[in-house]
Amino acid sequence: MIAITGATGNTGSVIAEKLLAAGVKVRVIGRDAGRLARFVAKGAEAFVADAKDAAGLAKAFAGTEAVYAMMPPNMTTTDPRGDQETTSDALARALADARVTHAVVLSSIGADKPAKTGPVVGLHNLEHKLNAVAGLNAVYLRAGYFMENVLPQAGVIKNFGFVGGPLRGDLKVPMVATRDIGAAAAELLRKRDFTSRQARELLGQRDLSYNEAASVIGKAIGNPGLGYMQLLPEQIKPALTGMGMSAQVADLLLELAESLNARHTVALEPRSAVNSTPTSFETFVAEEFVPRFQGKAATA
Ligand SMILES: NC(=O)c1ccc[n+]([C@@H]2O[C@H](COP(=O)([O-])OP(=O)(O)OC[C@H]3O[C@@H](n4cnc5c(N)ncnc54)[C@H](OP(=O)(O)O)[C@@H]3O)[C@@H](O)[C@H]2O)c1
Repeated sequence: MIAITGATGNTGSVIAEKLLAAGVKVRVIGRDAGRLARFVAKGAEAFVADAKDAAGLAKAFAGTEAVYAMMPPNMTTTDPRGDQETTSDALARALADARVTHAVVLSSIGADKPAKTGPVVGLHNLEHKLNAVAGLNAVYLRAGYFMENVLPQAGVIKNFGFVGGPLRGDLKVPMVATRDIGAAAAELLRKRDFTSRQARELLGQRDLSYNEAASVIGKAIGNPGLGYMQLLPEQIKPALTGMGMSAQVADLLLELAESLNARHTVALEPRSAVNSTPTSFETFVAEEFVPRFQGKAATA
């Protein structure tokens, strides 16, 4: 039995589908039984538990051979760092109390740094808390910048005619599709051939700048002249809070952007066949961005 936190999310859902397809017994964890039902229909056990509920998570992890552990983002909290610490405390306690021996943990590039990386500080602290769990073998998957982060650009393009964000247009970052993270995690959970604690980076198919990303998107949506504009934090923050994000979460995300721009948050491993993953940005745009954009275009 393998337990999957955040099972309805980007990475967790891919892990659940892959393991179920391979005939592995799976316990999917989320806050709502209804949202987990699609996995139950395929043979999974469902367990409802909040990420901050150590006792509930310990029950969900009991009797499992491995756990996929991730910290769900909370976009509306006014205390995002406190929220992260409560969640990582609960995860560490639950893994210890359930005597879990193997965990695959979603982390991020930049988790090597203790400060000035926005929300990634919470992942740094998570790794450290799990290092202290006796008997736990863990892989910290330090993922690059999610390609899914560009999906809200569908609305930006529709409304303003350009791709816009806080990153420097020429800054190349490792962009990874969450489906590739899910596939890598599923493989690790199935094989469980890791010992001790180790960080492994997942850097996507290649490094890409937002200038390049805008060009790929432009070609795919029939707007080959589409460009990217770097915006100031004071321009972006109202847009983020206008979408329902708390001011405190917006500040943390802007700190992360600053950290990427300053090359404080960077991949540590040289790119290799091991840390590269298959989905190209072109494939992601064709399969995920264009349908989103067309939906936006149709409803705007
Ligand atoms: N964005 C990036 O570039 C990037 C890069 C590296 C790492 N990361 C990390 O990736 C993680 C996000 O991974 P993801 O995209 O796979 O997640 P996601 O799609 O945001 O999904 C998280 C899932 O967690 C569940 N959830 C939310 N709040 C919960 C709570 N309080 N208790 C229990 N479950 C809860 C939700 O399911 P239900 O609604 O069904 O409960 C949701 O489907 C974050 O830790 C982030 O820091 C992000």
